[in-house]
Amino acid sequence: MLNLRVVFYLLLIGFAFSIKLPRISCYRTIGLPIINTFIEQETTISNYKSSLRFKGRTNPVTQSLFNQANYYWTGVISIGTPGKTFIIDFDTGSTDLWVPSIQCLSTCGQKAKYNSSSSKTSQANGALLEITYGDGSYVNGIFINDTVTIESLPVLNQAFAEAMNMSGFSSSAFDGVLGLAYPSLGTLGQLPVFYNMWQQGLIPHPCFSFYFNPNPDAYPGGELIFGGVDSTRYSGSITYVDVVIRAYWEFMMNSVKVTDKIICTKCRAILDTGTTLIVGPSSQIALLNRAIGATYDPGSGLYIIDCHTRLLSNFPDVEFSIGNITFILSVLQYLLIVNDGDTQICYTIFQGVNLHDNHGYLIWILGDYFLSRFYSIYNVNSNQVGLAKSISYSYIQIDSKTLFGNFSSKRYFPQFSQFFSFVMIHFITNMFVFE
Ligand SMILES: *[C@@H]1O[C@H](CO)[C@@H](O)[C@H](O)[C@H]1NC(C)=O
Ligand SMILES: *[C@@H]1O[C@H](CO)[C@@H](O)[C@H](O)[C@H]1NC(C)=O
Ligand SMILES: *[C@@H]1O[C@H](CO)[C@@H](O)[C@H](O)[C@H]1NC(C)=O
Ligand SMILES: *[C@@H]1O[C@H](CO)[C@@H](O)[C@H](O)[C@H]1NC(C)=O
Ligand SMILES: *[C@@H]1O[C@H](CO)[C@@H](O)[C@H](O)[C@H]1NC(C)=O
Repeated sequence: MLNLRVVFYLLLIGFAFSIKLPRISCYRTIGLPIINTFIEQETTISNYKSSLRFKGRTNPVTQSLFNQANYYWTGVISIGTPGKTFIIDFDTGSTDLWVPSIQCLSTCGQKAKYNSSSSKTSQANGALLEITYGDGSYVNGIFINDTVTIESLPVLNQAFAEAMNMSGFSSSAFDGVLGLAYPSLGTLGQLPVFYNMWQQGLIPHPCFSFYFNPNPDAYPGGELIFGGVDSTRYSGSITYVDVVIRAYWEFMMNSVKVTDKIICTKCRAILDTGTTLIVGPSSQIALLNRAIGATYDPGSGLYIIDCHTRLLSNFPDVEFSIGNITFILSVLQYLLIVNDGDTQICYTIFQGVNLHDNHGYLIWILGDYFLSRFYSIYNVNSNQVGLAKSISYSYIQIDSKTLFGNFSSKRYFPQFSQFFSFVMIHFITNMFVFE
């Protein structure tokens, strides 16, 4: 198992390098963004001082990301004046930003902590934050405003919460979470970071996009482009679908299939960078795993598949039809392989959890194992998500190919014992509170 802390520091060394790459706009129609602030569907363009948009910034901002052993991707931001750095999980499944507070004692462990008295730009706010995520992790805290700096761009007077208590984050390789879902999932009255960046004229287009490299040793491990799309990170065309409820980045999937077996049709799905695996309604996930020959493992809550005696050619593809385009995951893209002593266990990335959107519909979460194969775009103006084949679509860890029908035991995979605490579902589940 790669030690996540070591991975982080190694990657931090490379952090200073930044490469200028061609960027294209994510606009399809030029116009003011239709921003639904705080209440879904209600559009409040007048909240945005459009003159600020034309302050002159024409380039998107690239936030470098680190691949944390394929469990999640993190990046570094700084808060306050002078700035204090925090390692952040950028999460499209929630909306608020929080980092540990200096006042948070034992429950925040050794994480970096924000001290408002040592920042000369901090301003009182006082609103309360309370979030429960889909994996049961929990945080509460108090809002404060300060300068949040993202790749040297200062977002002034940004509201974020200083976390006072948390649970479920002790083994995480990040300090806090920066939410990128719609304002309707955030704490009432607190303008999310992305909307503030837009309002302050810091980005040229009201969209952002993610590239996750599935190779845990690559630098950069990924990138988050604020205000554009990096056309060097995907190939072919982008498929756009409409967001159906402006809360999560939720859309209708045409279907999920395993060869001729239909797992679901007209299924609701969200793109969630804060979730590790692909999560779906339990009964549908059971059907899917049965179709690929995996069996439920009560110990982990995941499904195990035989990757020792079964040959690679015997595993079917899993097909996600989105916007009538088929997005395929083949076997080496849908296994999570861990070392258990001298042998390997192969889990599938299809995890069954019954999670509902804020209208009560059961949903699928296309998490990082999907998003590391497909570049994703989130457009606040057109209210669409876009997906395209990532340039890393075909990356396969060398040792995984040698497993099937080959009992040789020396292979390099993460250790089983450390595995479960890293699988995340950062999908906010207490969204009803603010309706
Ligand atoms: C949060 O932590 C503070 C001290 O850090 C403590 O006084 C308070 O009881 C905690 N609240 C909850 C809900 O855990
Ligand atoms: C927070 O910062 C203030 C001002 O720099 C300092 O006096 C105080 O000791 C700091 N608090 C902690 C708990 O470190
Ligand atoms: C803090 O930010 C919120 C918006 O997110 C804003 O409503 C509030 O006025 C700000 N507070 C101060 C003191 O500027
Ligand atoms: C998919 O195809 C059907 C039938 O051709 C069409 O009605 C529908 O609008 C298409 N959906 C999308 C998202 O393109
Ligand atoms: C069997 O696995 C070993 C160890 O990973 C590898 O060196 C060898 O090439 C594999 N053989 C086949 C036929 O894949």
